[in-house]
Amino acid sequence: MQQVKAVIARAKGAPVELVTINVPAPGPGEAVVKIQSCGVCHTDLHYREGGINDEFPFLLGHEAAGIVEAVGPDVTDVAPGDFVVLNWRAVCGSCRACKRGEPQYCFATFNATQKMTLEDGTELSPALGIGAFAEKTLVAAGQCTKVDPEARPAAVGLLGCGVMAGIGAAINTGGATRGRSVAVIGCGGVGVAAIAGAALAGSSPVIAVDIDPKKLERAAAMGATHTVDSSQTDPVEEIKRICAETYDGAEGADIVVEAVGRPETWKQAFYARDLAGTVVLVGVPTPDMTVPEIPLIDVFGRGGALKSSWYGDCLPSRDFPMLVDLYRQGRLDLDAFVSEEIGIGDIEAAFEKMHRGEVLRSVVVL
Ligand SMILES: NC(=O)c1ccc[n+]([C@@H]2O[C@H](COP(=O)([O-])OP(=O)(O)OC[C@H]3O[C@@H](n4cnc5c(N)ncnc54)[C@H](O)[C@@H]3O)[C@@H](O)[C@H]2O)c1
Ligand SMILES: [Zn+2]
Ligand SMILES: [Zn+2]
Repeated sequence: MQQVKAVIARAKGAPVELVTINVPAPGPGEAVVKIQSCGVCHTDLHYREGGINDEFPFLLGHEAAGIVEAVGPDVTDVAPGDFVVLNWRAVCGSCRACKRGEPQYCFATFNATQKMTLEDGTELSPALGIGAFAEKTLVAAGQCTKVDPEARPAAVGLLGCGVMAGIGAAINTGGATRGRSVAVIGCGGVGVAAIAGAALAGSSPVIAVDIDPKKLERAAAMGATHTVDSSQTDPVEEIKRICAETYDGAEGADIVVEAVGRPETWKQAFYARDLAGTVVLVGVPTPDMTVPEIPLIDVFGRGGALKSSWYGDCLPSRDFPMLVDLYRQGRLDLDAFVSEEIGIGDIEAAFEKMHRGEVLRSVVVL
């Protein structure tokens, strides 16, 4: 066991606190990772506000990169000294999805078995099973994915959550590729990553939709060919018009990614896609929201697919090293997601900047 500094949310709505925590030595299947960087994500704020569950105190932070310090006795995939990006879906290898060769849909992903605690022994709930606003954290060894050690931690750590969710929503779930049009509704960190993913896959046009002009500027810099301010223009009509300009006869986009998580924007996505197109819901709705009323004949008549995307349907062991290599080759600008590097004491200020829409990601660097 060792003691390290970490940021926790002690009670619903209370400001986060920098405290000392106890990190156990890794047991079977576990690893202790020395954290180098961790992005500040909306989900951390949701935890702090009690929007995820009531298992306070939370150890926040989950978009992290670092160096493996120690591993449990039976761990063979990673070793001390490895540079890793942490993921929140360590696949089990034995559920139905894993057995049929689709581990990206694993139904039984897991985290460390032992608990990190406060100094008085109170057990902590690590955000998304990671908890990386900490000098060191304890995870399941399967949550550590080895990547190119030359890569900048603050940039590649972001693959651990929102950036992977967005890129994967466009490419893995939506099937973005050359010759297909992509529209993305909501251009925060996740939506902009979907835009970068669509551009990386060679899709065109790539249409960014948001109600905030600042977000649209950033989306254009990340590969959007067109931008639509949906506070001013009907996004459905505008997406249809832009797609018909590029592809004769197109009645919308081949893939529409909804990255807000609201019924009205999902409905826009539904009607903005071409016949046989795909809607991808990557935005997370709240439990009170329902599917908007849509005539069933419209669902039938348009064909295609209405999908949702968890973590971009990624398989960390396949996708993280590949995306880090593309980043190192200059083909995927992960640095552009890092708006600022901050200290571990600056997380409350980063939440406020996030709230005001000023940053894509503030990243804690340790
Ligand atoms: N599926 C997953 O695995 C996964 C992973 C991470 C995050 N998410 C979810 O993705 C969503 C986006 O996350 P984020 O970090 O990008 O959040 P964010 O708050 O940074 O971005 C949301 C964007 O939507 C825009 N927006 C709000 N209302 C809109 C409207 N009516 N029309 C168009 N645009 C609108 C905002 O201006 C903002 O740019 C959230 O719901 C988040 O919980 C999902
Ligand atoms: Zn499984
Ligand atoms: Zn996140």
